[in-house]
Amino acid sequence: MVGYSNLKVIINKETKNFQSIWWNEKGIINMIDQRKLPFSFEIFEASNLKQTCFAIKEMVVRGAPLIGVTAAFGLQQVVNTGIIENFLQLEKIVKNASNELSKTRPTAVDLFNTLNRIESILDSSISVSENIEQIKATVESIAKETLEECKGIGDIGNQLIPEKCTIMTICNAGALATIDFGTALAPIRKANEVGKEITVYVNETRPRIQGGRLTAWELHNEGINHYINADGAAGHLISQGKIDMVIVGADRIVSNGDFANKIGTYTLSVLCKEHEIPFYVAAPRSTFDLKTTSGKDVIIEERSGEEIRTAMSVDAINETKAKRRIIHHPFSQNINPAFDITPAKNITGIITPTKILKQPLEKSIRQFFE
Ligand code: MRU
Repeated sequence: MVGYSNLKVIINKETKNFQSIWWNEKGIINMIDQRKLPFSFEIFEASNLKQTCFAIKEMVVRGAPLIGVTAAFGLQQVVNTGIIENFLQLEKIVKNASNELSKTRPTAVDLFNTLNRIESILDSSISVSENIEQIKATVESIAKETLEECKGIGDIGNQLIPEKCTIMTICNAGALATIDFGTALAPIRKANEVGKEITVYVNETRPRIQGGRLTAWELHNEGINHYINADGAAGHLISQGKIDMVIVGADRIVSNGDFANKIGTYTLSVLCKEHEIPFYVAAPRSTFDLKTTSGKDVIIEERSGEEIRTAMSVDAINETKAKRRIIHHPFSQNINPAFDITPAKNITGIITPTKILKQPLEKSIRQFFE
């Protein structure tokens, strides 16, 4: 893909640079298989829509911007294959694929923004091949914008970070969750690159451990000093004055400034308010949902109780049920909301690719998109 390739991967003591998703020379979608990290670095190949939908649903890829880009690649995949004879056939293929992709995960709005954007360019007044060219160009724009915007978030967010700083984050909002750079991790990467003294406290992020597995892996590869802490330790660490600021990513920021992010984010925002430390959310334009006016209306993904009841062990990197270990009382019920809503009032600012949006957020968001 055009652009950058900054995601450092250390394999057998050798450092290579990657993006989280790319097309290979045979036109197959390649993705870093995030289910396997940090224990094994493997590439997942999706050669058809079914496999692409599987990759999103089963979290081979995850993170709002990357889910959006993967869906865009999925739509390109369906127009790449076979002979499409007329516009109606093309429209049906794209809409069916879009419908399948829309059912993979409900909360990250980047997915729906991508699907709507591509569906909306279908044009019956031009030829099928022109339509396909337009779809490909739009898919490429979506990927490029994601890259450029995450780079911008790094530059803008870095301005908030003092020369010496401890930053807490949750989940993985790094290069793995985008194509490169990340959202919440982009300012941290930039600050480290320009020589600031950074320490990151990584919330483990039960139950899927995106913090302990993915964010820690990225930070280790970058050589950024970090600690993994149990999610429940966040309050204690913040109350001890160990944290200067919290930066998190987002799955959907609605027009009043409320936002959805990984479960546990809301707790961090309340802790920051209580202890008067800055709480920032970092996101590209594709993560905004201006049609929804309140966080109350965001659909929160409910995932399987198995994720709570069991844990993956090092020898269980394939995440098959058989290899997961039961860690709870086996007959109890489980509840597993994957995201929570942080109210706008708890946010210090939103780090966008071009500026920091400040309170009142509803007005700042409106002006930003004018
Ligand atoms: O369930 P996940 O791993 O897809 O959740 C991801 C998050 O909550 C991230 O913080 C969010 O998507 C921002 S990623 C740049």
